[in-house]
Amino acid sequence: MPLIDLRSDTITRPTQAMRQAMFEAPVGDDVYGEDPTIRQLEERAAALLGQQAALFCASGSLANLLGVWLLVPRGGELLCDSQAHVVRAEAGAHAALHGVQTRTWTSRRGLADPTDVIPLLAEPTPHLVSVAAVELENSHNFGGGTIQPVEAVAAIAAACRQRGMGLHLDGARLANAAVACHRPLADWGREATTVTLCLSKGLGAPVGTILASSPDRIARARQQRKRLGGGWRQAGVLAAAGLHALDHHIDRLAHDHANARLIRQTVQERAPQAVTDPCQTNIVILRTAPGQAERVARLARQQGVLVSQLDSATLRVVTHLDVTAGQCAEAADILADLLAAEPVPAADQADQADQTDALVAAPAVDRRATDQV
Ligand SMILES: Cc1ncc(COP(=O)(O)O)c(C=O)c1O
Repeated sequence: MPLIDLRSDTITRPTQAMRQAMFEAPVGDDVYGEDPTIRQLEERAAALLGQQAALFCASGSLANLLGVWLLVPRGGELLCDSQAHVVRAEAGAHAALHGVQTRTWTSRRGLADPTDVIPLLAEPTPHLVSVAAVELENSHNFGGGTIQPVEAVAAIAAACRQRGMGLHLDGARLANAAVACHRPLADWGREATTVTLCLSKGLGAPVGTILASSPDRIARARQQRKRLGGGWRQAGVLAAAGLHALDHHIDRLAHDHANARLIRQTVQERAPQAVTDPCQTNIVILRTAPGQAERVARLARQQGVLVSQLDSATLRVVTHLDVTAGQCAEAADILADLLAAEPVPAADQADQADQTDALVAAPAVDRRATDQV
């Protein structure tokens, strides 16, 4: 029984066409700045993100580490959401490696409200640690793939600029937000001081993330990447996958979004108590009875569906180009049955009306990979 793997879009694997592009890629030594394919990717990605320069990095965590390092001196403070990837899921790297202190605000589904964030931008005093930068994440992973409105990002960015503070935008899934809103990535990217874009998630490249910013910041980041052991040689074969992803895998994200809505809708019809969160991109949040998430995930796995668990009563389902609409429908039925069998918790019924789906339903693309994990 092939598994339908909806744990994360990080599991996507290169298509045949992408492998061909990788095979044919001209390469050189990137430490000498001689890899033409990396050059091309960095120039292309910088423009896409509304920035002047970019650096190809081995992972989203490394790109975040460098982006925050550029903005926050040792002992300085980064303000971010309590559910942000930089504080929840990067092994404490920012503090451990760069002496960054973080202070967090609590948001609703990861969405940054300027009226909550801007008052936190305290001016430095002799004894208060000085805020050096704010970090936003778009779309927001643990918030359920939610989209930061451009206006909110612009307002927070302006407040930071006025105070000489930086804004780091973790754009691991920025392409999802852009496709969902029918807007260019640069509408968010140009507001940031430093911004990332993962190529290895929904975009389907095997490895890599872009960090974009000004030429002098990127030059500094390139040196720090070397210090951290992240300088690479003929990585053009990987950059070629990134270029292929930018050429062929951005618009099709709308299919992943349609598949995510399909799953949410199917579960909502049969287990409405499990669906209290909107679905704006390729992530669906499902609520179980208290303490039951692990059991439901285990039962789903026994039926060939893999989902991830965010906490003891929350499951996360992520669609991507390695699962078809047919597989998503199959998985939705299995999850709906399991959740319908759950005792009904005191769900926040009002939330069920908070449907912010503004996407245009698109026909699903058949792209099932047979040999899943
Ligand atoms: C929002 C966000 N930022 C950064 C990362 C880190 O990316 P990587 O796994 O490539 O280090 C992830 C990983 O899932 C993520 O979801």
